[in-house]
Amino acid sequence: MLDWSEPAANRAPQAPLPSPAIVPDAESGTGLGHIDRSGGRVRVDDKAMINARADVNQLLPLKYGWAWDKYLSGCNNHWMPTEVSMQADIALWKSRDGLTEDERRMVKRNLGFFAASESLVANNIVLAIYRHLTNPECRQYLLRQAFEEAVHTHTFQYIVESLGLDEGELFNMYREVPSITDKAAWALAYTKHLDDPEFKTGTQETDQAFLRDLVAFYVVFEGMWFYTGFAQILSLGRRNKMVGIAEQYQYILRDESIHLNFGIDVINQIKVENPHLWTKAFQDEVRQMLHDAAELEASYGRDTMPSGLLGLNSKLCEQYMRFIANRRCGQLGLAPVFAETENPFPWMSEVMDLKKEKNFFETRVIEYQNGGALSWE
Ligand SMILES: [Fe+2]
Ligand SMILES: [Fe+2]
Repeated sequence: MLDWSEPAANRAPQAPLPSPAIVPDAESGTGLGHIDRSGGRVRVDDKAMINARADVNQLLPLKYGWAWDKYLSGCNNHWMPTEVSMQADIALWKSRDGLTEDERRMVKRNLGFFAASESLVANNIVLAIYRHLTNPECRQYLLRQAFEEAVHTHTFQYIVESLGLDEGELFNMYREVPSITDKAAWALAYTKHLDDPEFKTGTQETDQAFLRDLVAFYVVFEGMWFYTGFAQILSLGRRNKMVGIAEQYQYILRDESIHLNFGIDVINQIKVENPHLWTKAFQDEVRQMLHDAAELEASYGRDTMPSGLLGLNSKLCEQYMRFIANRRCGQLGLAPVFAETENPFPWMSEVMDLKKEKNFFETRVIEYQNGGALSWE
């Protein structure tokens, strides 16, 4: 490449360069290694999702337009929790009979689950996924996603502060409420593997471990468990209860639907580039992961809504989780894990469309989206 030790005028014109720019310690995949001054320029064909040898510090030329599009969509969806009024929620939460005890229990457990989960997801992106995803446009999206997870964590801080909730109780639920701990522990088992400083992709075993982590966090955490969480709060919002939190959840859901779709695209692209990883045994394992995750969610639903609420109970949430699990299987090209079931919350797909829902909660809805519809499959 260019010799920056020479003034520009003295530099020889650039000749076409041979092979692609390869960072000598490419096996680390970080992009922080030695610069190869004699390496060639990056070619699209040299880029790869994992184990790439092309320089990860160069965004262009783009290879994966879908990753760049998701980065742009994320930027178009910018929002901050503090822009949503909490007045109606504060009045309702402080009123004696505005909410039943069951509704309060459900809201608190829901907030407790999300409060820590957003941090778990963020830490997994930054500390486990980023390092091993060796593509700059995917990393660009991960940087955006990491910020969005910070915004989501901020949302729970803002809700706790606004409603005067016990912050210790909420933020410790993931350690103290067994049905929440079980879910967090299940996902952490997959990220723990990658947390090992010696962990490196590049073998059948480690590449599959990386895929398992993507499934656990993108497909299960963000793509399954978060969805029952959204359904719980949005169902209250539909009855004009906790409308501020419901509005914030709509924005989080919009972000998360892109996170989920990014994760699905990443997994499917890795499959295309590394078909040897997607063995029958591995597919069965992924299907079992989704099955177990749905069962964990069913336990959480029974614990969170022991006697059920208006239009919402643990049975319906379990059915919804099975419906979603089958859908995720389809997105990954896998056979469904449960018998065919109907979506018990068809209104969830309407809630996704913020424009259509403009006056739904009769609160102020901020239109950040500059255009383009959501796809939330
Ligand atoms: Fe999030
Ligand atoms: Fe997310």
